[in-house]
Amino acid sequence: MTYQNVYINTIGCQMNVYDSDRIVQVLEPVGYRKTHNLEDADLVIVNTCAIRAKAEQKAFSFVGRLARMKRDNPELLIGVGGCVAQQEGDAILSRMPHVDLVFGTHAIARLPHILSRVKQDRVRVVDVAQSTAIDEIEGGGGFPVDSPISRFVTIMQGCDNYCTYCVVPYVRGPEMSRRPERIIAEIEALVQAGAREVTLLGQNVNSYGHKEGLPSFAELLAQVNEIQGLNRIRFTTSHPKDMSDDLMEAFGKLDKLCPHIHLPVQSGSDRILKRMNRKYTRQLYLERIERLRRIRPDIAVTSDFIVGFPGESPSDFEDTLTLVKAVAFDSIFAFMYSDRHIAAASRFSDKIGEDEKKLRLQQLLKTQESITLTKNRALVGSRQEILLEGSSHRPGLAEHASEGPQWTGRTPGNKIVNINTDRNRASREAFTVGQVVPVCIEKAYAHSLQGVLMQEELSNGGLKGNTCHAA
Ligand code: SAH
Ligand code: SF4
Ligand code: F3S
Repeated sequence: MTYQNVYINTIGCQMNVYDSDRIVQVLEPVGYRKTHNLEDADLVIVNTCAIRAKAEQKAFSFVGRLARMKRDNPELLIGVGGCVAQQEGDAILSRMPHVDLVFGTHAIARLPHILSRVKQDRVRVVDVAQSTAIDEIEGGGGFPVDSPISRFVTIMQGCDNYCTYCVVPYVRGPEMSRRPERIIAEIEALVQAGAREVTLLGQNVNSYGHKEGLPSFAELLAQVNEIQGLNRIRFTTSHPKDMSDDLMEAFGKLDKLCPHIHLPVQSGSDRILKRMNRKYTRQLYLERIERLRRIRPDIAVTSDFIVGFPGESPSDFEDTLTLVKAVAFDSIFAFMYSDRHIAAASRFSDKIGEDEKKLRLQQLLKTQESITLTKNRALVGSRQEILLEGSSHRPGLAEHASEGPQWTGRTPGNKIVNINTDRNRASREAFTVGQVVPVCIEKAYAHSLQGVLMQEELSNGGLKGNTCHAA
């Protein structure tokens, strides 16, 4: 079979990364193979994100640049998928005459059909139909494309929460959970193909299965924990209002569940949380963190913040800063509020100016930066088990190899570690991605750690513990 090449540009969250892999899977039987080289493409797909204005601009500017390629090669097909496609639909075709197909977040399984219409009937196609049955959205999961060691698996689609700033419920549709047996079978297939870690994805994984009467998320985790050959389980995102006791206790029970929780708080002010429709208070959030830390003292906690939400006063913002200090997060993502015309907050009055939003963002990030560094420094001298994900060893630099780190991986708490193997030169080549190795942390930076392999432990199987002797 002679293949044609599909190039995919993925913008947005992990769910889009997963969806892009699904796109490659569903296109394979109809004769497409993924290329990393835009110039080689017969089909270019842009998998878009609508979460903030900037993400949307990024998609349109990339699609805009493809116009020239299409002029040079009229046979080239251009498709726009994902959340902006779902939101804009037809409007994309009129705005961008060189686009051949627009497909929404529920249309991935229908892509072969859409493409055959584009090719055979020479028409431009828009498919943004949304389903109310999860089985209609299935298709194309379970087989690795790139990076086989650590994989994402979407366990539920959509969201019912309608936070007032957010487009997700509109562009991803109502919340729907996949059947546990499908999820388990998919993870088993991934493990067969070499995966050692999975991250279960949903906008609010804590409410997995509620609507459908399926097992709870904690029960699903327990099932995943039984899968032979899998080392690590992660999940994202959790909503503070739905964190069940069962789920918190899972951190004390399941040996494969990594001690890390991403629990977006968005703001430290009760008044703003209410206007955001988040349905929890600062107090409840703090209690949940305290409880999690009692159950699993080494748990890493990360979060998302929005600064400059409409009506956010200096004192509301101060509440966010005090919350950040009170929790002492391992790291955070912070965003300036961005108007989304579909979402309710775009119609709120008392918007905050761009300059003020920038100032608040800088102040928040600066506050967190020193906390992150302190947290990372506290790991110096500790023994960490690292899942090797890649090698940064470049053959051309062989003579300098003893100076730089050769392996990268993550701690159970999700911190990136560059591993220096120069003191274990002989064994350097003996490692493979997907292996879990003991590493002594020697240095801490703002965004990563550096460590050295604990060679003695590896060779004689002894020396286990939580600390090591840092050089
Ligand atoms: N489901 C997740 C978040 C998904 S969106 C949750 O409930 O937390 C990822 C992050 O983008 C959000 O946590 C929020 O911090 C940010 N975000 C969403 N809409 C935004 C907007 N209109 N402007 C700025 N940031 C936004
Ligand atoms: Fe958006 Fe809120 Fe749903 Fe998260 S929970 S996806 S922020 S509406
Ligand atoms: Fe963006 Fe859609 Fe994900 S809006 S954040 S790609 S769900």
